[in-house]
Amino acid sequence: MSNIERKDLSGAYCDTDWLTLHHKVKKENRQQMIDDLNLSEDDLVLDSGCGPGLWTKMLLTKVFNVVGFDINQDALKVAQKSLNFKDQDRVNFDFGNIGHLTYSNDTFDLTFDANTCMYLAEPLKGIKELKRVTKKEGRVVIKCMDYSSTVIWSINQKLWLKLMYELSIRNPEVTKNSYIDCVFASKVISLMLEAGLKDMKVKSYDISFIAPLTQDQKSYLQIIFNNYLNKSKEFLLVNEYEKLKLAFDPESKSNILNNPDFYYRTVEYVITGVK
Ligand SMILES: C[S@@+](CC[C@H](N)C(=O)[O-])C[C@H]1O[C@@H](n2cnc3c(N)ncnc32)[C@H](O)[C@@H]1O
Repeated sequence: MSNIERKDLSGAYCDTDWLTLHHKVKKENRQQMIDDLNLSEDDLVLDSGCGPGLWTKMLLTKVFNVVGFDINQDALKVAQKSLNFKDQDRVNFDFGNIGHLTYSNDTFDLTFDANTCMYLAEPLKGIKELKRVTKKEGRVVIKCMDYSSTVIWSINQKLWLKLMYELSIRNPEVTKNSYIDCVFASKVISLMLEAGLKDMKVKSYDISFIAPLTQDQKSYLQIIFNNYLNKSKEFLLVNEYEKLKLAFDPESKSNILNNPDFYYRTVEYVITGVK
């Protein structure tokens, strides 16, 4: 078991190793999301909460200039290092807080936020800032997810629904180090409208992993399973928790990741509003 599989996840969904693995297993889906933005080469794009710059590099395959910002200096260093020499003049990575951006009004043709607004205690403030720095008739695009659209086979369905229900009522998840709203996709349209955006569009992307899984898919899912195990101990009955442990524990002989009929499906959402 690698270190990343053993990590306690509270507050770690912004960790560079995790983000990189996450990106690797969903790369094709993410490429489709970027293709579907129908960007023009001369569009100036802002990558909001760019982290280690994984989406920035995809955006660079479509447009000439991208600006990325993040509140995490270490992630920005990784992002800067990951660029090819020839791309270095095409990108600016800035330290920035989405609540108080330093860019002028009406700067970007498109502002793109992948899984960042859902980590904010005050997402509306962030969305309003993204709108402010977007040009008139430009687009604000938010890519996010919602726990409730995930399906895993084979977990006892009653147990799975209880897990999802209990996690939802404890949402948003607030720990010492982090905040995450796991049902953000459901409410983001309403927030974007409240921020004054118009002509809302939603595109959903079905992400499925089916047995036999690659090692990266297994590592990625094991981290998610560990997280479910950590969180569910406090609300599942002992026998329910033991059932979940049998299915999810990496040391368990019955870990479902090795099942020939294993199936994981989730849905991610790309939501666009026009300024
Ligand atoms: C889940 S990560 C997503 C990173 C990247 N967009 C990706 O999908 O690979 C969330 C990112 O938001 C950044 N972040 C959190 N709060 C922020 C804030 N107030 N202003 C700017 N960035 C923030 C974190 O540092 C982290 O890089």
